[in-house]
Amino acid sequence: MTNTMMTGGATKKLLQLTLNGKPRTDAVADNMLLIDYLREEVGIIGTKQGCDGGECGACTVLIDDTPHLACITLAASCAGKRVETIEALADQGRLSRLQRAFHEKLGTQCGYCTPGFVMAAEGLLRKNPHPDETQIREELSGNICRCTGYVKIIESVQAAAEESAS
Ligand code: FES
Ligand code: FES
Repeated sequence: MTNTMMTGGATKKLLQLTLNGKPRTDAVADNMLLIDYLREEVGIIGTKQGCDGGECGACTVLIDDTPHLACITLAASCAGKRVETIEALADQGRLSRLQRAFHEKLGTQCGYCTPGFVMAAEGLLRKNPHPDETQIREELSGNICRCTGYVKIIESVQAAAEESAS
């Protein structure tokens, strides 16, 4: 839900959403991007910015379980929705199966792209717990990694899917 207000001449909306499982209400400018809301307003910095907009996937978050690019999504458009970032996945300091798989299968090197890959893969596994390699590659095709050859990333997602099947 949003309410419009004027603050110092700028139009802001009162944004209510569920962020990483907790309800929040913040006044955000109409044109504030979700990535700026997360990193600057909320202060969680796991979501990365890797390009000028919409090209690298580093900023991928889940909105109502579906991957979206936070760098081209307006924060105000998330009113009433569930937004999840990489910070949502670990449970009391314990990595999720997907995070563990990226670690164990060496799916991460410098790590800058990793939050985006993990969230894109998380979205895939929620709708399709047992994807084949083609489906994994298709789902992650919008994410770019400068360090790896992608093979280890694909293997990481496969390992997480196999673990959930066992
Ligand atoms: S930072 Fe969003 S796609 Fe690159
Ligand atoms: S691990 Fe470095 S950009 Fe992907």
